[in-house]
Amino acid sequence: MTDQEAEALGAAALAEVKPGTVVGLGTGQAATAFIHALGKAVKGGLRVTGVPTSEASASLARTLGIPLIDQPVSLDVAVDGADEVDPRLDLVKGFGGALVREKIVAAAARRFIVLVGEEKLVKVLGGRGRLPVEVVPFAVPFVARRLTELGYPPVVRDKNGKPWVTDNGNLILDAAVRAIPDPGTLDRTVRDIPGVVGTGLFVGMAHLVMVWQDGRARTLTR
Ligand code: A5P
Repeated sequence: MTDQEAEALGAAALAEVKPGTVVGLGTGQAATAFIHALGKAVKGGLRVTGVPTSEASASLARTLGIPLIDQPVSLDVAVDGADEVDPRLDLVKGFGGALVREKIVAAAARRFIVLVGEEKLVKVLGGRGRLPVEVVPFAVPFVARRLTELGYPPVVRDKNGKPWVTDNGNLILDAAVRAIPDPGTLDRTVRDIPGVVGTGLFVGMAHLVMVWQDGRARTLTR
């Protein structure tokens, strides 16, 4: 999806935001476009409170004048991107590394809306070959061994040759995956490994997916 397409999608998602509500702010290209659209609306007088899913989204929202709270209790709506979307609207997320806060915010929201380009639509999750798993640093070698035994050998995500640290102070293992026929079971299996904080599998969470396709926003529901 180009930045212009993301901008159009972000603006379209604004229709889902009602005055006086608490809104989850995702992380990544699509979510950033939505935050910009929301910022414009706030400047124009819309009253909302945002809950950011990353330090990056928090700092963008602050510069745009969106009032924020940092620890969610309940939200009206959350808007975020995704890395893969299957026909049941189950998702792989976390290529941007904010999966744990993103999942908390999505779970706390009455409606979770996902914005993607059509290149993110897959028949079966796992097609892009990796599943992000956030892990407590102490547990990384152990979790890596367990994931390898399960058939999903991981690599520690790095940046400029150094392990990349999440906003929660943890590391990300990108597990090599192929088609994931039963995402719910895989999510539970991986979360059962001590030291795992969360996986990028979002199962049964999205209420609505807006896809940029053929020059317009198309809506998919479960
Ligand atoms: C961040 O951790 C991710 O879950 C993103 O929401 C996801 O990777 C989609 O991001 P883009 O809109 O940048 O593709």
